[in-house]
Amino acid sequence: MQESSSDSDLIRNRDEYSRHWRSRFRKTWNYSSQGKLKRFRGLIQEFRLNSRASLSVFDQGFGLGLMLFSFDKSCHLAGLELSTEVVQEVTQFGRKQGFVDMDLRVFNEEKTIASSWPCKFDVVISSHVLEHISKPEIALRDLLTVLKPGGIAILAVPINELPGEDLNHFFFFSQSSLVEIVRSEGLKISKCVECDCIWDLLSPLAYRLQRRSNPFLKILSFGINGVTSILPLCFLQGIDAILKRCGYKPRQIFLVARKE
Ligand SMILES: C[S@@+](CC[C@H](N)C(=O)[O-])C[C@H]1O[C@@H](n2cnc3c(N)ncnc32)[C@H](O)[C@@H]1O
Repeated sequence: MQESSSDSDLIRNRDEYSRHWRSRFRKTWNYSSQGKLKRFRGLIQEFRLNSRASLSVFDQGFGLGLMLFSFDKSCHLAGLELSTEVVQEVTQFGRKQGFVDMDLRVFNEEKTIASSWPCKFDVVISSHVLEHISKPEIALRDLLTVLKPGGIAILAVPINELPGEDLNHFFFFSQSSLVEIVRSEGLKISKCVECDCIWDLLSPLAYRLQRRSNPFLKILSFGINGVTSILPLCFLQGIDAILKRCGYKPRQIFLVARKE
């Protein structure tokens, strides 16, 4: 039987990410995870979600749980990842951090989120997941089904990518394509941030290096993650403004949208 494109996306994602999250030296060359986290935390602070007690939060493809663990410890945290090991590790890490109400599960392609979680959430998150799926509108619709009316979706994806740059991306977003999908699902966009022009500057080098196991790439990645974890958000925004003026394109978009 021939695999459909979404089956093969899933197999490639599982293969890539089970190795990725197990590695001590993760390949974090594209999009500093520290910069991404800083921007995410800036947004939840702006929307006063970071300190709100007892919110229910769902993260589609939570990775190391960086976004989920940015919420208050009284929150109910739920989400999906592709491997049992990651789900177990992140659950244990969350417990150590003092989170007690967690429901993290392994993705099951036979089931939708909506059929697995009959409850609804105050906040849903999809951060750098939709570009790994060739039909992201279906995955996004499933995610938004579990959002409460009045609830908030926080979405982040790469934009202005060139096909072939990242071999694990199966869909290439632009600012307008993400906005269009979100609006077509009936959500009202509250905020749209286009950022990370630095990756437009660095990507020709980073993507050339990613095809080889290269110590320089790891040093570059650690350096960038180290620097972005220290610099305040306003400094990162300043760098973006300068690079935009020099003609570099934003490589990442964050959308905050509300279900009416
Ligand atoms: C680039 S990582 C992002 C991780 C995390 N959300 C973050 O922003 O740090 C993409 C993650 O999506 C997961 N993933 C890919 N396809 C998925 C799917 N169909 N459902 C749930 N997770 C998926 C992968 O296992 C991987 O951990």
